[in-house]
Amino acid sequence: MKPSSTRLALAAAALLIAAPATAQTALPPTSSPAASPQATTAKECGACHMVYPASLLPARSWTKLMGGLASHFGENAMLDPATATTIAAFLTTNAGDVSGNRRLRGLSASDTPLRITDTPGWIRSHRKITAAEFSSAKVKSRSNCVACHAGAAQGSFEGDED
Ligand code: HEC
Ligand code: HEC
Repeated sequence: MKPSSTRLALAAAALLIAAPATAQTALPPTSSPAASPQATTAKECGACHMVYPASLLPARSWTKLMGGLASHFGENAMLDPATATTIAAFLTTNAGDVSGNRRLRGLSASDTPLRITDTPGWIRSHRKITAAEFSSAKVKSRSNCVACHAGAAQGSFEGDED
């Protein structure tokens, strides 16, 4: 290969490497024409708040929550039955007790919390945060994970500032 074509090839390779990173932020999470269960969940359950990771509640909690969407924390979040079934299956399959999430340790088997913020693991991790911090203008609610955890919708909660 001549030096000039080597440079071209390298430039092309660099473009190929760079392209997926740009595409990730620009494209929706699914490439198939029929939305995946994950994409359906993200769309419907991300309409009013961040998409809470399925791994932060046990399957029985998701089943109860999905059965009560008509009265969901004071809102009507009703879905058509087919969409609700798809989402319930996605959430229960990826639930914390199914994946063995250590953050659900301490949750009694007879307890079916509807809120992640009511689980013993969550309460333990946030015990040093005051009520005033949670109700501050920036945060507004304990449920507003993204205000403090930038990677929350992707399931990342490591460290104070991320
Ligand atoms: C119409 C708006 C709306 C839609 C749609 C919606 N929610 Fe909610 N959700 C709320 C409100 C309001 C709260 C209470 C937030 C608060 O207390 O600050 C909430 C809270 C929650 C919580 C508890 C968060 C905590 O405090 O730990 C979970 C879990 C949850 N929603 C899951 C879902 C799922 C799953 C879906 C999709 C099936 C969904 N939501 C769709 C409005 C909505
Ligand atoms: C007011 C800010 C704030 C809000 C709102 C908040 N967190 Fe946190 N969270 C923190 C801080 C600070 C820590 C401690 C981080 C550390 O010690 O590294 C923490 C720790 C955690 C941890 C433990 C991290 C680890 O490394 O083990 C998890 C999981 C977590 N938060 C999830 C959530 C979820 C889910 C929500 C929303 C339902 C939420 N947080 C809302 C500030 C917040």
